[in-house]
Amino acid sequence: MAAGDIMLDLRDIRKSFFIGTPNEFEVLHGVNFTVREGEFVSIVGQSGSGKSTLMNIIGALDRPTSGEYTLDGVDIEKAKDHELSILRNKKIGFVFQTYNLIARTNAIKNVELPMMYAGMGRAERNERAKMLLDQVGMTHRMIHNPDELSGGQKQRVAIARAMANDPAIILADEPTGALDSATGRLIMDIFHKLHEEQGKTIVLITHSPELSQETERIITLRDGDIKGEAAGQWPKIKAELEKAQMESAKMKEAAVQAKEDELAC
Ligand SMILES: Nc1ncnc2c1ncn2[C@@H]1O[C@H](COP(=O)(O)OP(=O)(O)OP(=O)(O)O)[C@@H](O)[C@H]1O
Ligand SMILES: [Mg+2]
Repeated sequence: MAAGDIMLDLRDIRKSFFIGTPNEFEVLHGVNFTVREGEFVSIVGQSGSGKSTLMNIIGALDRPTSGEYTLDGVDIEKAKDHELSILRNKKIGFVFQTYNLIARTNAIKNVELPMMYAGMGRAERNERAKMLLDQVGMTHRMIHNPDELSGGQKQRVAIARAMANDPAIILADEPTGALDSATGRLIMDIFHKLHEEQGKTIVLITHSPELSQETERIITLRDGDIKGEAAGQWPKIKAELEKAQMESAKMKEAAVQAKEDELAC
């Protein structure tokens, strides 16, 4: 697949849940959109608008009640369950708000797991896990279990795990939702790097209009319907962040200088 080709194609996707006979509750009411290879897209909406329901469909974790969904050329309706699990393992990297790491299993082993399922040999997957943990700045904590890591560190391990089988697409559902803003910034910076340097297709699900502005394209979901699409503001936000960083570095430098001058007197 070449950059710019359609990676996700959703047509008239509906999803209903049975909430006790004869009640059927429709959560998605006919969702249409496409995502191209290499795009960084956000799906933004309030709590209960159907974002996670939609993410489960995009990630082939759940099937729509009706509609057509093609993921990287594969017709999801026709695919059998075991084909979907192979597709998920190879093509999709999932990142969740609550990390979903395996407890009592260190960071390296957590990252190795999807590669083990994909049949990669022990030495190769161990080496790749270490390389991926290094990419997210976790080299120093890789033999620690999740309960010995901070939220931001756990999320970095989860991103390394999502990258394990070099997926075509990364699906992230509120990846910074449980983190403070500085740690959330670090996580967003990793996503930008994966997008800009590795050309990954990323779908970010968030309730935050502010965060969604960091992506190239914003799809707004309201009560199970798409209410519109807009372009994000990442180049502008990036420039502002860089300016703020430079100013804070200058202020730190000035403070150090002032302290040195004081000591010299
Ligand atoms: N398995 C289910 N059975 C019945 N209703 C469900 C089920 N899963 C989700 N829903 C309902 O579908 C609606 C959308 O839920 P969903 O989890 O997709 O929202 P969301 O936008 O992800 O919300 P949040 O921002 O709080 O995570 C909610 O009203 C929810 O109660
Ligand atoms: Mg949700």
